[in-house]
Amino acid sequence: MGFNDLRDYLAALDKLGMLRVVESAEWDLEIGAISQMMQETEDNPVLLFDKIPGYPAGFRVLTNVQNSPRKQALALGLPTDLSDLEIARHMKDKRKETVLIPPREVASGPILENQDRGDKVNILKFPTPKWRTLEGGRYIGTTTLVINRDPDEGWVNMGTYRQMIHDEKTVGFFVEPHHHGMIIAKKYWARGKACPVVACYGQQVELFQASTGSSPWGKSELEVAGGMAGHPIDIVKGELTGLPIPAAAEIAIEGEVPPPEVDARTEGPYREWPGYYSQEPHPQPVIKIKAVYHRNDPILTGPHQNNRNISVGTITHAAIAVWDALEKSALPGIRGVWAHANGLFIVISLKQAFAGHAKMALLTAVGVRGSNSAYRYYVVVDEDIDPSNLNDVLWAMTTRCLPEEQIDIVRGTVSTRVDPIMSPEKRESWDLTCGRVLIDACKPWAWIEQFGKHMTFTPEYEKQIREKWAPILGKRR
Ligand SMILES: Cc1cc2nc3c(=O)[nH]c(=O)nc-3n(C[C@H](O)[C@H](O)[C@H](O)COP(=O)(O)O)c2cc1C
Repeated sequence: MGFNDLRDYLAALDKLGMLRVVESAEWDLEIGAISQMMQETEDNPVLLFDKIPGYPAGFRVLTNVQNSPRKQALALGLPTDLSDLEIARHMKDKRKETVLIPPREVASGPILENQDRGDKVNILKFPTPKWRTLEGGRYIGTTTLVINRDPDEGWVNMGTYRQMIHDEKTVGFFVEPHHHGMIIAKKYWARGKACPVVACYGQQVELFQASTGSSPWGKSELEVAGGMAGHPIDIVKGELTGLPIPAAAEIAIEGEVPPPEVDARTEGPYREWPGYYSQEPHPQPVIKIKAVYHRNDPILTGPHQNNRNISVGTITHAAIAVWDALEKSALPGIRGVWAHANGLFIVISLKQAFAGHAKMALLTAVGVRGSNSAYRYYVVVDEDIDPSNLNDVLWAMTTRCLPEEQIDIVRGTVSTRVDPIMSPEKRESWDLTCGRVLIDACKPWAWIEQFGKHMTFTPEYEKQIREKWAPILGKRR
């Protein structure tokens, strides 16, 4: 059960014909461009770039790893031939069943095959791409893990926070103010100390899944990852920081983040997940790298998604977290939840059972945090609408929703610096809030029985005709 490292997962992808090796692509934009264009193809394979000009053969870059429900299903050991909504349901059930399994400390592991300290530290030894045209630098940390320890409570946090390379021994530390990694770093800074950190730039998929899903304060994502893998994550103890380093990771560093008044450097722009270079370059804290570790023939993992817009359908933490919260709230009749546009547009499908049912679902959903910090539209639809099908959802919104009665706006909710609609003034003053729209696109409960019927034929009759006229009707689209 589960994978032991990233290479196990690549072997499983290869078996299914979902992995493609690409040789001789340049780090400067070419790898990023090929990755973006390939994900728009029907195959959408995972891409492993090798023989990158200027770097030793075997120093590889992996992209398009988790950008389809099928790849996500495989990563979590779920069947890959289900509908997207069924895969989401399995992911939600799996998360609910996941127990915490603490990591296991081991004396050594593949991550220690190569070790550079002090003067030898040079993060530029890896073929980090410049992913997109206007980016302010080469981003090594795009699907990274950042690990730090709460100095008061002793527990270990893990989150995914991006990192731009500043020089051979320095990378950026871009963490939203409400994320645990930043709250912990500030505790060190308040005492005038640098915050020790470990970062990994290639690791098994369960670690990435746990790292990007928000866990309650005090609950270590390393233990969540162990639960997802079904066995403890092997870790070696970092000799400089005492922090855990996943023993089978591809590339890792140990370092420290000094208080921003001691060192902060201009970071960005970066093509943010909503699809824009929405933030102006800004001073951000940095990680001073003290040691670099890597496996032989290391694999650096690249951005979660390279898409031009936000149409690529993946099952996001937001969908799973909202679905889970709705079930925990004991609201009946939840058929499914889907998050379009990377979580900016969340759709809940349910079978209404009482007046106010749909509104309760919206109000429950609006308080849930998935992985992003920005959410915008929440739509609830009846049980006959597939929430993953935008055509169905638009049909419900345009035909079952009386705007003056069924749309509400909640103001002042948490958003993020990367939200493209955040004004420069709000960004400057760190007032990172933005409203959310709640749309009840269910048939009005008070007269649901009188609402126009839309079924032309009963499902039973349709089935009968499909069987009888199969040669004419052919396969369903
Ligand atoms: C691909 C990807 C990249 C992310 N990059 C960042 C980032 O640069 N900074 C950040 O604060 N959060 C980022 N996040 C979100 C956090 O990793 C996520 O909310 C996580 O749960 C935070 O964990 P924490 O609450 O333990 O700090 C990213 C998420 C994903 C999926």
